[in-house]
Amino acid sequence: MQPFHVSQSSPSPPTFPSGFLWGTATSAHQVEGDNSNNDWWAWEQEPGRIARGHQSGQAGDWWRAAEADFDRMAALHQNAHRLSIEWSRLERGPGKWDDGALARYREMLTGLRQRGIAPMVTLHHFTFPLWVAARGGWLWPELPQAFARFARFAAAGLGDLVDFWCTINEPIVAVVLGYLTGRFPPGGGGLRKARDAAVNSLRAHAAAYRTLHGAQPNARVNWAYLDALRDGVLRVGPRVRVPEAAGTLDFIGVNYYSRDLVQFDRRHARTLFGRHFPTPGAPISDGGYGEVYPEGLLRVLLRANQYGLPIYVTENGLPDEDDNLRPGFLIDHLMELWRAGRMGCDVRGYFHWSLIDNFEWADGWTMRFGLIAMDPETQTRTPRSSSTLYSEICRRGALPPAIAARRVRLEIPPKE
Ligand code: FCB
Repeated sequence: MQPFHVSQSSPSPPTFPSGFLWGTATSAHQVEGDNSNNDWWAWEQEPGRIARGHQSGQAGDWWRAAEADFDRMAALHQNAHRLSIEWSRLERGPGKWDDGALARYREMLTGLRQRGIAPMVTLHHFTFPLWVAARGGWLWPELPQAFARFARFAAAGLGDLVDFWCTINEPIVAVVLGYLTGRFPPGGGGLRKARDAAVNSLRAHAAAYRTLHGAQPNARVNWAYLDALRDGVLRVGPRVRVPEAAGTLDFIGVNYYSRDLVQFDRRHARTLFGRHFPTPGAPISDGGYGEVYPEGLLRVLLRANQYGLPIYVTENGLPDEDDNLRPGFLIDHLMELWRAGRMGCDVRGYFHWSLIDNFEWADGWTMRFGLIAMDPETQTRTPRSSSTLYSEICRRGALPPAIAARRVRLEIPPKE
């Protein structure tokens, strides 16, 4: 890739390398609709689990009609999309593979490619098939083998259409919200279970990674828990050796949203005795979701770069129904990404979360992350103005010319 540069044309906006991936990110349960065979669907039926009793329902109707949104991505000059495939559709019960569902995913991935959109595919994005959840989900001892079988099925059936695989989305988030705060299924369990779940997720990742590479030697596969993946040791409390995890990642996917300040507080056991709060006076996105802090992206990228692997920003966005913060958020975060590139970070793509408003887990439909507003009742799409702004950035591979007037700072921010 060409380096990040300031173009010679006048005015000279910060320009990204050719071949940079510009896209959006989604996940199956949040957009497909009718995902009734997984643990989140069951969770949504329980009173009190989801804000205002919302349910995913038809979601963004992608299982039937994703192609209409693929057209929108193409019209917005996006050349990549991160999506997930739903294990509970593909393996309806243990060993009960669904060729019809596989065919639909082939159709969707082909549809993306035909529009010049490179797919990045996540195997697990927060949902388990009901039959896996019934056996213990993250705590099921045979999860690594079952997940590897699923990875083998996916690679054999879809591998020719996929260049990038992510095994597990935000495993730490899944484990902390599932076993500590209880906002995600199974709804609690405590620290010990959380740690066991984290260790088993490392094993599941390692098994899937090896399977994908066995099936597709050139596949590029990613995950987090970065140190454990480097040397096979999980350092959360007492050290746990997971030797099979060592060396099982090809790129780093950064999901970055906001920052929390954290203060020790013995009343907050469920968040490991940390009281989380934003910087007083900082801009906050809808519903108190988080502080807007673009410089944090630069810090995370600089840190991730120490692993010496290519980096993709696999999620970045904010809930902002009125779209009054999103345009500035986009520009400021992409500016920080560009600064990271100028400082030598090997960052190769950016996936904004998300294309359309979608089912935001325990927050239901109360958090609107879309570049395009979407009404889940009517399925009506209404572009927000930031979709035009992002489209221009994707088309030019550069920030808007007006940004060139800003002073481009390249120094590394001081540690707080
Ligand atoms: C991330 C999740 C994604 C979405 C965004 C807002 O943590 O990976 O599914 O919910 O947050």
